[in-house]
Amino acid sequence: MNHRPVKIVSVGKAVPKTVITNDDLTKILDTSDEWISTRTGIKQRYIASGDENSTQFGIEAAKDALNKAKMSGEEIDAIIVASSNPYNIYPSCACVIQDAINAKKGPAFDITAACTGMLYAMEISRSFITTGKYKNILLVATDTNSKFLDWTDRATCVLFGDGAGAMILSESDDGVDDIISLNIHADGSLGNYITMNLAGENCPLVEPSTIPQQKIGMVGKEVYKFVVQTMPESIMSSLSDAKLEPKDIDYLVPHQANLRIIEGLQSRLEFSNDQVVVNIDKYGNTSAASVPIALSEALESGKIKTPSKAILCAFGAGMAWGSAVVRLREGLK
Ligand code: ACO
Repeated sequence: MNHRPVKIVSVGKAVPKTVITNDDLTKILDTSDEWISTRTGIKQRYIASGDENSTQFGIEAAKDALNKAKMSGEEIDAIIVASSNPYNIYPSCACVIQDAINAKKGPAFDITAACTGMLYAMEISRSFITTGKYKNILLVATDTNSKFLDWTDRATCVLFGDGAGAMILSESDDGVDDIISLNIHADGSLGNYITMNLAGENCPLVEPSTIPQQKIGMVGKEVYKFVVQTMPESIMSSLSDAKLEPKDIDYLVPHQANLRIIEGLQSRLEFSNDQVVVNIDKYGNTSAASVPIALSEALESGKIKTPSKAILCAFGAGMAWGSAVVRLREGLK
């Protein structure tokens, strides 16, 4: 069977309206702007307020991507949503988004791969498109970790922000494949590094279970050590699969988890500041949404010029991680 090439048609984003600065956090935590910015690069983050939720941000990001692609929901054949904290489990976030954008043609489902969710969704979509199963796929990555943070755990809660990103992938009509290479991985034996349980309760007719706290836990130091080893390997393997070298790549769009991790990747690739997309100062770590928000913002602001080639990379709970070498076509928004 001929493999059909994939086109990156558009990228979108949406974030809550409320900004919480590091100084704001000092009102509820024994912390400081100096500690947070020097250790992580974060200065502020957007946080869901009132009834704002991840599904709502996902809908806004999806509409942004559809507008930029000049497409309507009716043209979308399938919807994949990557989220670790969708507002509903039933119906799935993808089904709610499907209804909101009036896309009725095909399947809509959620996946969970924590911060690597967008790369997992890209790999699944690529398989659907290359085999000819679907032509136009909407990918959404949305997380509101703020609702599940322990706001007394200063080592973890200062790191995260909320938001959503979206991407439309289509069968390319000119034979050019925009996903030049992509690898995704997981190592479940490291599951204890970043955790969040659902606080379910047993049927009253049976022995009650221990009800876990539905809060994010993280062994930050172990995550850090794992990532600085694994992420460069994943990137080098994507480059090698693409038969390219760092000098052939224009931009790095990394998961925004810690500025020091990003700087490590930058020096490994010998990239200049102009080549590395950093917005962690504004958004914090928005989990699955991090890479598409960074890509969307960099395209909008002109930081990323097209046509060009970029490395996307992400890591997070699982542990799950991945990277991709992608082509960003002229005029991509
Ligand atoms: N403000 C002030 N002090 C703090 C804060 C804070 N917000 N947080 C921790 N500290 C203190 C600690 O109590 C400790 O004090 P002590 O020495 O008196 O005990 C000191 O600062 C050092 O704490 P460490 O935890 O050792 O700090 P570290 O240098 O390891 O940095 C950090 C912590 C920033 C979390 C780092 O480990 C990191 O970035 N790890 C990777 C995190 C990551 O990438 N996560 C991905 C998540 S993605 C997902 O899937 C959810």
